Amino acid sequence: MERIEEHIEELRRAIAQHEHAYYVLSSPTISDYDFDQLVKELEALEQQHPELVTPDSPTQRVGSDSTEGFVQVAHRYPMLSLGNTYSYEEVEAFYQRVEKELGGKRFTIDAELKYDGLSISLIYEQGRLTQAITRGDGTMGDDVTKNVRTIRSIPLRLQGTGWPDELEMRGEILLPFAEFDRINAARAAEGLPLFANPRNAASGTLKQLDPEVVAERRLDAYFYYVPAHPELPDSHYERLELCRSWGLKVSHAIQQCTSLEAILEFLDRWEVARHQAPVATDGVVLKVDSIAEQEELGYTAKSPRWAIAYKFAAEQAKTTLRSVDFQVGRTGAVTPVANLDAVSLSGTQVRRASLHNADFIASFDLHLGDQVFVEKGGEIIPKIVGVASEERQPGAALVLFPSHCPACGAPLHRSEGEAAYYCTNQMGCPPQQTARIEHYAGRKAADIRIGEETIALLFEHGLVKNIADLYRLSVEDLLGLPGFQQRSASRLVESIAASKERPLRALLFGLGIRFVGETVAKTLVRYYPSVDALSKASVEELTQLPDIGKVIAQSVVDFFASEDNCRFIAELHALGLALQRLPEEEPLEVKAHAEIEGKSFVISGVFTQHSREEYKQMIESLGGKNSSSISSKTDYVLAGANMGPAKLAKAEQLGITILSEKDFLELIGSAAPTPSVDEPTTAASPVEDLFPLT
Ligand code: IVH
Repeated sequence: MERIEEHIEELRRAIAQHEHAYYVLSSPTISDYDFDQLVKELEALEQQHPELVTPDSPTQRVGSDSTEGFVQVAHRYPMLSLGNTYSYEEVEAFYQRVEKELGGKRFTIDAELKYDGLSISLIYEQGRLTQAITRGDGTMGDDVTKNVRTIRSIPLRLQGTGWPDELEMRGEILLPFAEFDRINAARAAEGLPLFANPRNAASGTLKQLDPEVVAERRLDAYFYYVPAHPELPDSHYERLELCRSWGLKVSHAIQQCTSLEAILEFLDRWEVARHQAPVATDGVVLKVDSIAEQEELGYTAKSPRWAIAYKFAAEQAKTTLRSVDFQVGRTGAVTPVANLDAVSLSGTQVRRASLHNADFIASFDLHLGDQVFVEKGGEIIPKIVGVASEERQPGAALVLFPSHCPACGAPLHRSEGEAAYYCTNQMGCPPQQTARIEHYAGRKAADIRIGEETIALLFEHGLVKNIADLYRLSVEDLLGLPGFQQRSASRLVESIAASKERPLRALLFGLGIRFVGETVAKTLVRYYPSVDALSKASVEELTQLPDIGKVIAQSVVDFFASEDNCRFIAELHALGLALQRLPEEEPLEVKAHAEIEGKSFVISGVFTQHSREEYKQMIESLGGKNSSSISSKTDYVLAGANMGPAKLAKAEQLGITILSEKDFLELIGSAAPTPSVDEPTTAASPVEDLFPLT
């Protein structure tokens, strides 16, 4: 027994050390695979000896939103909140109170938008960004400087002149709607859970321990307040203008108001116009402009008495729940959707709302006929946020999550730790099959010119039950169907035939293997010349590839472990699909470059001219090698912005040459391709013009 206890302790110590190296130092000391083996061994031992489990065992770290890896720091000036108002009467009362307390003298109120993101405090010393701290509890927050440095709209150095030696600046970090949509679309394609709204996505992103992930998610930031600083002008408005001149992003959606009418007019205008803003806003903030007058009005324990937030009308409505549909998606996940009596919500008619999953339904104790509250935030579809259970009719039927698939009758299964129930009849469940065919036919996959309705029609007529059946369709088959003419029928058959020539990465993406989105498919094809070759890969082998973790690797291996799937792939082969790399997909030919050939590179940080993946490819195509960790064998470190300090220190200690992006491009000279990183798009509508792009 004692020996087991010792062994468990040893495992815990080793795991903790590797975790520290990985999460805190960003300098892994073990492969993902080997690390998982250690955790699995510990889990197994703890399962056999539950009495030996301790709360600090690494196995007990269940997805907490703990911000370990971030240092807690005190704010120099507390980050206060604002008093909220919801009506014009309350705004009028605020205005009158200010008027009275300032003794009837003339005053100006600045009206600006209230941004719905995460507040941040930036500190610039001698014009350089030195610290970024989250709000935390208002007194202490997390130091998220590294992540904030990846936000392109935040200058690392102030421009212009006249900034104080130490400038503290408050603002909001946001994920623009367009970015939110892009990220969720990519997550949907990879079978990952979607972010509920831009705010959650921004907060999840800022808490990432890996600044590279943060950089990919193009966050944005708007600034709206400078605390203290008596040396700056006495006007809040002028201070913001100065900040703008120093390169900080300050919205032009701000107005100096000298009457209550002007304030109410601003509120009226933005209640509507805010829907065109590129980022989420949830109200208007009114601030007394003069700093001297602000001091006169003072503070309560929690908020300034010189400012107030007016919250836009809550986009919520009450309506009746009529029924619940249980929809089966491509992966077999069953999603409950509420059918409601139509109700108007922020300008649109709402008839359906998301109920998320079984736990969500149970937590609301939903009954048919219930009066429910629906809300529309940044989400894709409205959601139910509450139930007026006191209004429930006697005898109302409880909404129950089915135990069997509503489409095919197969039993549903929920894996431990997952929110969703899945239909177990992968191959025979109609909505799963049609959704899979739709995915396969998609533009980024097989690119077959066929719509959702035609797929449903073919399915109903028994002509196409799975992806392989598409390749068996003839013009004659189609001519028997409503709506098909000779021309449209031949066109579809031709489009299906043409799909056989699609790049392997597109077809592989089309197969719909969980977690294999476009990017992963592209990586896999770079290393495996055919689906057959890929089908023989092991988890260990796959996790060696760039950006392929154990979850993705396991999913690929599981896919090919299924007999049904192997039969399906064999069928595709028999129908004339080579499922092999096209010549254009061959990894780049190696053209040895004198400076690069035989050299070992480690790439770290964030780049502006090309993506990391492209730099890796360039290095390989010029005869160099990529490696993930720095050692004495490393020749060069290609360092982008925000390279981890631990890595940098190690490189310096080993005397390795550190190349900036510019150095590297100069080194390879004419072998450098033209830059590919997207430029931001330009603003289109007048409202968008008020939000400066950087
Ligand atoms: S001024 C002392 N201005 O709202 C006053 N805050 O409930 C400092 N917010 O935590 C805040 N837009 O995160 C101010 N234009 C704006 C704002 C704004 C959003 C947030 C901020 C603050 C919260 C107050």
